[in-house]
Amino acid sequence: MTHDRTGQKIKSDAKVQKLLDEVAQTITAHNQKITGPREASPEYKMEYEDLLKRVERFRGRPLFYPYIGSGAGQGPYVELEDGSVKLDLINGIGIHIMGHGHPRLVRACLSGAMSDIVMQGHLQINQDYLKMGEKLVTLAGKKSKLKHAWLSTCGTIANENALKLARQKTTPARMIISMKNAFAGRSTMMAEITDNPEYKQGLPEYNEVLRIPYYDAKDPRSKETSFTKLKEHVAKNEKNIAAFAFEPMLGEGGYYYAPREFFIPMLEFCKEKGIAVWADEVQTFCRTGELFAFETLDIGNYLDLCTIAKTAQSAATLYTAEYNPKPGLIAGTFASSTVSLQAGMAIIDELVEGNYFGKNGKIQKIHTSFVKMLNELNETTCKGLLQDAGGLGLMIAVTPLDGSKEKVMELLKILFKNGLMVFNCGKGPHRLRFLIPAIMQENDIQVARHILEKSILEVAGK
Ligand SMILES: Cc1ncc(COP(=O)(O)O)c(C=O)c1O
Repeated sequence: MTHDRTGQKIKSDAKVQKLLDEVAQTITAHNQKITGPREASPEYKMEYEDLLKRVERFRGRPLFYPYIGSGAGQGPYVELEDGSVKLDLINGIGIHIMGHGHPRLVRACLSGAMSDIVMQGHLQINQDYLKMGEKLVTLAGKKSKLKHAWLSTCGTIANENALKLARQKTTPARMIISMKNAFAGRSTMMAEITDNPEYKQGLPEYNEVLRIPYYDAKDPRSKETSFTKLKEHVAKNEKNIAAFAFEPMLGEGGYYYAPREFFIPMLEFCKEKGIAVWADEVQTFCRTGELFAFETLDIGNYLDLCTIAKTAQSAATLYTAEYNPKPGLIAGTFASSTVSLQAGMAIIDELVEGNYFGKNGKIQKIHTSFVKMLNELNETTCKGLLQDAGGLGLMIAVTPLDGSKEKVMELLKILFKNGLMVFNCGKGPHRLRFLIPAIMQENDIQVARHILEKSILEVAGK
């Protein structure tokens, strides 16, 4: 006897679908009133200050920006509880690639909220888990040998899983080769891979990470220097190196990228030596002009492991058949929330279907136009105050003023006050980092230009 499946009935119920459409449209109609930066309303000032103090009390330290979102926004603009609207070019450090209140995402989240459960685990899955995993391996598999995906909730855990896979396959190898100025996350081991002493004050050194310099476009010998260092490490630690972990584009380290020729000799060498090649794409996924930065660099066939998160609204460790671990090595209660899985899939679908990728895609157009705007400011009204604009796709950075930490921190606060949210990266020079949403329009770039110009001149005291 065939039973009606209630789950299917809920999903295909015309009334439910109509109600969800109506809710999504009603929310979108509200969000559409948010069209550009505006100042805070004086009547919300006291209430807002109280909210900020409450956050400070329970966290034991204040927020970096006095930012508490109201839950509304449209495109690159987000409304705060004080009534102000900011142009958001940091997007939760890379989460909201479709900006704020994107109608397709609002709808996907409502659909995810219909499920009987909030979180999906690896023991009891719904179809969302299946569809997301399958989507990731299908897309990754077009340009790589990555065949499997293990879902998780954040980049740090995806990276921890990748490291376990690498170590199990190369056991008893222990060491990891990583780049100078790398960032890998906030767990104890990922803090060890991260090359920033400020992020591990008071933590012991585990001495499991060997470093090579990242590509330096200004040094003609950069490729040889890094490759030589890699070979030296391998010679000194024969059979004791589990993985070569790298960000295809250095993220927190300053938004520098390297050409394919920089990576190839090192990747070939690691393959020869049986060292796992692991690309940390937690920040680059969806951003460099192709879905994966390994496609932008055309290095997919060398990868054994690849980690993604942020834009995916969940996280995953992708791996080849060879690196498929023994049962028991990786698990964890949470795989992802149903809403996150549906939202992540909607984002990936929108990007893949909507002409965002490729040389003539929307991402490349935004990149060209944004970098041009920064260079124009540097050559005109902000002469010499916005140097070395560049990056890949939606990841752009520029060195403002003298590149000192003090000036960049001061500038971030002034930019925020004037209505633009960006962040820093690099630590010598310190840089302004833009994680630009893929829905950015030309007029939004002009809004950014105006605020940047005003704020730079304010800090430079001109
Ligand atoms: C390259 C890279 N790896 C790992 C992480 C850690 O990801 P999460 O913050 O989701 O744990 C980040 C976060 O910024 C990152 O940029």
